[in-house]
Amino acid sequence: MIKENPIILGIESSCDETAAAVIRGRRLLSNVIFSSATEQAKYGGVVPEIASRAHTEAVDEAVVKAIREAGITVNDIDAVAVTYGAGLLGALLVGLSFAKSLAYSLNVPLIAVNHIRGHMSAAYLADETLTPPYLTLLASGGHTAILHIKSFTEFEVLASTSDDAAGEAFDKVARILGLPYPGGPNVQRLAENGKAEIKFPSSLVRGSQTQFSYSGLKTAVINFCHNAEQKGEPLNKADVAASFQKSALEPLVKKTIENAISLNVKTVTAGGGVAANDYLRNSLKAECEKHGIKLILPEKKYCTDNAAMIAAEGLIQYQAGNFADMSLNACAQIPLK
Ligand SMILES: Nc1ncnc2c1ncn2[C@@H]1O[C@H](COP(=O)(O)OP(=O)(O)OP(=O)(O)O)[C@@H](O)[C@H]1O
Ligand SMILES: [Mg+2]
Repeated sequence: MIKENPIILGIESSCDETAAAVIRGRRLLSNVIFSSATEQAKYGGVVPEIASRAHTEAVDEAVVKAIREAGITVNDIDAVAVTYGAGLLGALLVGLSFAKSLAYSLNVPLIAVNHIRGHMSAAYLADETLTPPYLTLLASGGHTAILHIKSFTEFEVLASTSDDAAGEAFDKVARILGLPYPGGPNVQRLAENGKAEIKFPSSLVRGSQTQFSYSGLKTAVINFCHNAEQKGEPLNKADVAASFQKSALEPLVKKTIENAISLNVKTVTAGGGVAANDYLRNSLKAECEKHGIKLILPEKKYCTDNAAMIAAEGLIQYQAGNFADMSLNACAQIPLK
């Protein structure tokens, strides 16, 4: 029986966060995140085996805590939604195996969630009235795209990156500037004390309206830093961070707004870790206000990896009647479209 406001448990373990969350309809009841980021920071990035082991140790506790904090019992759960991809295979399998056995033992539906669709659906929890059509600016560690969400289950890619993702570029630039993992928030912090006056290439491919590229921008930042070093000139890292941030993010905001105006879409949302960036959030707010567009931004903690967004996307799939069976396997890569 399909309920109007089901209680859905979401489980996420695609990278270095072991997360569990419970929603009732679009209302978030609990959100638990355990992260192995501090351990991973020692190696400058995510080591898959360390992530898998950390998930194995944390998944049970994360789920129990999410159920307890939601004020429900395990028997109240109407469906279990789990990230089946994309991500690190060993890491995904921990959450997936746990979700399968729980759904089986409770005799409730299992819902397979694409991690990226999860990032896109975080906005549904930020505004319970959000209904397609709307545009989403998706900017994460592995994806960068402007999407036209036409219905709860259909979307069109209006623009995307042809190489690196925005988050990946932040992480690489952080490394060049000697900042620790995870790079994005550290680049943002450094940029707050800098002037965005260095001319780096725009992340929008010259002459294109639909293609972003972050690899040229990243190389330009590397070259700039190496040149200064070779000439023995002082490098103002804060200025580099601020200039990179502007070149990386301004075109995303500009193109999102232009698409909204030309398609006459009145609502814009954002998702993915880079949507936690204050420069991006403030630019989107200012531009949306200027053009009379409603902006729905998930809180920062729901932009980076979390299970609330997995439960939210689980709800969309539940309402569409898309359930998985026990043969569901993890998938390291899933194309955006
Ligand atoms: N404040 C910030 N400014 C810029 N980038 C940020 C900020 N916070 C997080 N990020 C970036 O977001 C990324 C992590 O986000 P996310 O969890 O969406 O990525 P992912 O799960 O690795 O990739 P994907 O979701 O595409 O598989 C990292 O690249 C990180 O540097
Ligand atoms: Mg992610």
